[in-house]
This record gives sequence, C-alpha cells and structure tokens, in this order.
Amino acid sequence: MVTEGQRAAVLSEIDRELAAVSGAESSMDAAMRTIARQLPHYNWVGVYLLNGDTLELGPYVGAATDHTRIPVGRGVCGTAVAEDANQVIDDVRTLDNYLACSVETRSEIVVLIRDSRDGSILGQIDADGHAVGAFDASDEALLEEIAARLAPRLGRAS
Ligand code: SME
Repeated sequence: MVTEGQRAAVLSEIDRELAAVSGAESSMDAAMRTIARQLPHYNWVGVYLLNGDTLELGPYVGAATDHTRIPVGRGVCGTAVAEDANQVIDDVRTLDNYLACSVETRSEIVVLIRDSRDGSILGQIDADGHAVGAFDASDEALLEEIAARLAPRLGRAS
C-alpha cells in the first residue's frame, strides 16, 4: 500500500530526476532507484522490456536474478503480457506459474508499460515484496503513473 504522501514524494522525485536525463536506460534506472529508496515494501523492483515474445530485464534494484529473459506466458511477468493485464499477487505460494527470484518473496506486482499512442505493450514494471499482500490498488495506480512517464522514453524493441 502506498500513502498519498508517498505517492506525491515518489512522483515529484521521479519528475525531478527525469528532467535531468533523457535516455531510456538512465530514465528507467532513476525511476527504479527512486521507488526502492522511497517505498520500503518494494524489496526488488525492475523493468522488463518486451522484445518479440520475450521479456528482457532492464534496470533494477535488488538481488541479482536468474530470470533475465522470460518468455511471454511464463511466470507472473509473462502472464501479464499474455493476458494483457496487470498482476497483483498477494501470495506467490498460491501460484503454479511462478518464477522465484528470491525465497523471501511473498507478494508481487506487475504493471504494464504501454505505448500511449496505441496501448501496445512496451514492457512492465515488476516488484517483489517480502510480506504477504504487500501491494494493492494504490501501488498499481502509482506504478501506472510511473509507467506513463517512462513509456515515451522507451524505443519500441519489436
Ligand atoms: N517472479 C517473476 C520473475 C521475475 S523476478 O520476480 C525478478 C515471475 O514469476 O514472472
């Protein structure tokens, strides 16, 4: 859950950071670092970019992961693309189609980054939390606002 104060602080810091950079990598990196710094329940947060039918890991903050390339349909990340829908998972242990990055992860959120021109999927913001039910609609709304800021800076990979 994100409070209104946290939402405002995250967005104003991201807007300040994005005003100082223009490239896709540095923009994604600044946004991920701001989220991780301001929101303690985000234990891992990163961007995956969609290239054809594969999600490719971009900038992230948190432990290194084996899942640097995820086929559409696999795991929570791949399911978001296959179903064309954000995912908010209260307890990852209830899932069969889940790719574990850390044994400590209990909840996960995936918010799609869409091209504002046609709604097509450019990638996604993925976050893991150590607590069950760490993320809710307030996290989804904030990540959608961040995704909308990043989308114009991402080149279409496919
Ligand atoms: N848990 C994700 C994989 C990515 S890691 O969480 C960083 C999934 O099931 O797709």
